Amino acid sequence: MKITKICCIGAGYVGGPTMAIIAQKCPQIQVTVVDLNHERIAAWNDADVNNIPIYEPGLSEIVKEARGRNLFFSTEVDQAIDEAQMVFISVNTPTKTYGKGKGMAADLKFIELCARQIAKVSKSDKIVVEKSTLPVRTAEAIKSILDNTGNGVKFQILSNPEFLAEGTAVQDLLQPDRILIGGDTAEEGQKAIQALVEVYANWVPEDKILTTNVWSSELSKLTANAFLAQRISSINAMSELCEKTGANVNEVAKAIGMDSRIGSKFLKASVGFGGSCFQKDILNLVYIAKSYGLNEVADYWEQVIIMNDHQKRRFSDTIVRKLYNTVSDKKIAFLGWAFKKDTNDTRESAAIYVADDLISENAKIAVYDPKVTRKKILADLDYLESRSAEANAAHILSFQTAYETCEGAHAIAILTEWDEFISYDWQKIYNSMQKPAFVFDGRNILDGPALEKIGFIYQAIGS
Ligand code: UDX
Ligand code: ADP
Repeated sequence: MKITKICCIGAGYVGGPTMAIIAQKCPQIQVTVVDLNHERIAAWNDADVNNIPIYEPGLSEIVKEARGRNLFFSTEVDQAIDEAQMVFISVNTPTKTYGKGKGMAADLKFIELCARQIAKVSKSDKIVVEKSTLPVRTAEAIKSILDNTGNGVKFQILSNPEFLAEGTAVQDLLQPDRILIGGDTAEEGQKAIQALVEVYANWVPEDKILTTNVWSSELSKLTANAFLAQRISSINAMSELCEKTGANVNEVAKAIGMDSRIGSKFLKASVGFGGSCFQKDILNLVYIAKSYGLNEVADYWEQVIIMNDHQKRRFSDTIVRKLYNTVSDKKIAFLGWAFKKDTNDTRESAAIYVADDLISENAKIAVYDPKVTRKKILADLDYLESRSAEANAAHILSFQTAYETCEGAHAIAILTEWDEFISYDWQKIYNSMQKPAFVFDGRNILDGPALEKIGFIYQAIGS
């Protein structure tokens, strides 16, 4: 089957960038990204490409090139599904907030709605591709809905998890370490796999395109995220031990990272990992393991989350302790709110939890993030339901620049590793602050000795 029309349901952090690259690299394929969220689609279609809803370095240029040529953003979900030979599902699968598996299992409500919609409107055979991260064996549920509620047309389900990381999405999509495609082992399934292989082969070398059965593919995605998160929790656990023993976690990370069996990536101690995937996917893995009665497996992975929560809490506790055990009415400047640099995404960002702890201690938090708005910051805090929206708004101060944010502050906390923070005029910042002036570097990005020379009391993670 030659693919000429693709539809992607979900214009979010995964669907948007992925389809933009497919459209750029496959001008012969018409790619339509649909979403129920009118505001989001309008932003993707904004005449000024700098206003697209997702900030990713290099993305707006690609959207500019392909949009209107073979890349379209629309709210006409039914029409786009019907016209396409291949439908990607890239909707969100948040952790359940209700019922059985609350706080652990993935909420598959949006996935099921998509499957039902595809079944309802399809008048020709289609390949349905799971892009969203899903619990192992979700494809079975999707297939059952499609086969039992459809118009008698044939569906093949593929699992094609996305491994892009935010902030480097364009690079990750252009030069992926690998593309993973899982499908049915019977002949029709193999044909569907081949159709998707041909799409990627437009720019990805074929030896990097792996094909497996559906279950291996679904589980590989959860496994990859669990291993990555585990590395961060492992180095963060060591960071606490370093602080007690006089070792330096950056030196330890470098020393072990030079062992080629361990490798140097993902060993950066931090205030804790955030993002939409790691916590959600591990909780989901824990839930799946428990549902099969594999309690030791579940406990093993749950510890990664426990350690991460501890790291975030430890950071806010340290701030309170160093500021003479009270932050009440003190101005604490937060540099960064996004869960990592080069993204405007704040989902599960450590900043949210650290701020929440400090607000409970009555601190005033002044936040500066180059890509995150005050509205988003307040929405993130309100989501925790720790206090009223008015109370959160009263504790969050917003300023236009980082310098104003730090002016008069008792302490600065670095929550995101934005490059611009490194090159600030730290002498100027020091001069404008309350003394003693503290810096809590939750990302270990600043030059500690230089700051100490200026007069700051500097506290990094893990030293
Ligand atoms: C992750 C996976 O990397 C990606 O493959 C998957 O598709 C989605 O989940 P993402 O969450 O976008 O991507 O970003 P990532 O770079 O993995 O960072 C996640 C969190 O870990 C961030 O908060 C980051 O700051 C933190 N982190 C990362 C560390 O604290 N230390 C590190 O060494 C690396
Ligand atoms: P991700 O990081 O996985 O891409 P996002 O939340 O950024 O997650 O994006 C998911 C998108 O999917 C949202 O914009 C949401 O409106 C959209 N969506 C969810 N369910 C449906 C549906 N049934 N039809 C169309 N779009 C949907």
